[in-house]
Amino acid sequence: MIEITEIELGVTADMHVHLREGKMMELITPTVREGGVAVAYIMPNLVPPITTIDKVVEYKKQLEALSPTTTFLMSFYLSKDLSPELINEAAKIGAIQGVKCYPAGVTTNSAHGVDPNDFTAFYPIFEALEANNLVLNIHGESPPKKDSDDIHILNAESKFLPILSKLHSDFPNLKIILEHCTSQDAVEAIEKLNAGYKDGDKVTVAGTITAHHLSLTIDSWAGNPINFCKPVAKFPSDRNHLVKAATSGKPYFFFGSDSAPHPIEGKARHTGVCAGIYTQKYALSYVAEVFEKNNKLENLKTFVTDAGVSFYEVKDVKCSDKCWLVKDKFNVPEVISSKDVTVVPFKAGDELQWKVEWRK
Ligand code: NCD
Ligand code: ZN
Repeated sequence: MIEITEIELGVTADMHVHLREGKMMELITPTVREGGVAVAYIMPNLVPPITTIDKVVEYKKQLEALSPTTTFLMSFYLSKDLSPELINEAAKIGAIQGVKCYPAGVTTNSAHGVDPNDFTAFYPIFEALEANNLVLNIHGESPPKKDSDDIHILNAESKFLPILSKLHSDFPNLKIILEHCTSQDAVEAIEKLNAGYKDGDKVTVAGTITAHHLSLTIDSWAGNPINFCKPVAKFPSDRNHLVKAATSGKPYFFFGSDSAPHPIEGKARHTGVCAGIYTQKYALSYVAEVFEKNNKLENLKTFVTDAGVSFYEVKDVKCSDKCWLVKDKFNVPEVISSKDVTVVPFKAGDELQWKVEWRK
């Protein structure tokens, strides 16, 4: 067998990225491209969250100033502050490509989120998204119930899945993404909603999968706050289903890193650690490693380029170079830092096999 030593990935896309604001944004935004990503879908969970056209336009400008060749796709945060008129207006000027739904209280900066047990108040928003061919991005975890142990971090995603099915049946043409799938149940739900999919059909319900959930399991974060994120990594069997889905070459599973940097102090607090894993700077290297180990490098381009670009119908991209991965060992640094902020990257200190190169 001939050993593959370089791979052309083209206009790569990471459809779930947190870039924050201020000093953290300045440090992290340029690392999107360094990690091999040309197109990035940016999450709106700032403090306060992004719910206006002015704010989203201004934020995009700041990101572009920090990384002019990265294509940033932008989003609003689903809340009562949105209206169908605002969605129509934002769609008309191309200010956003989607709206992110956070159930209240399930993750970082989700205090302004919604109650997913009753979405009906947001149906006019979903109608507007559907009419404008915009995406509904869902953090699919049910919030814990008051005075009950029914829902906890290990089953919160599975408990959410009936809500996803209902949304799809109420809005069959709305493009919905179950973000950062972590469980066998989630993979099976996406498969089920795509039953009957034939080559060339338009995908309406997709799942994104992160780099870290392709290797982490519950043992990796219990005891190590750097590997703690929401939804948490589950059991080895769940991880195996995620790897199978990601490497399958199916157009309804694609890459969304959920790279979510936190200052190192936030990962070492006695008052509770921040959820989120920073992967951006080596995003594609982490993913390639898993595909290679599973003898699936031939499907890597579908996962990190074609499926996401086609789902979002990305047209204009800012970068004319193509992303290549080249077999060339290196070690992940222990920290990524500026004089103001320090972040610990995923797999700090570990050796990775694939380096990013941008070529004409
Ligand atoms: C994200 C963050 O830090 O913003 N955290 C995380 O654990 N993934 C929010 C999110 O996407 O849930
Ligand atoms: Zn996220």
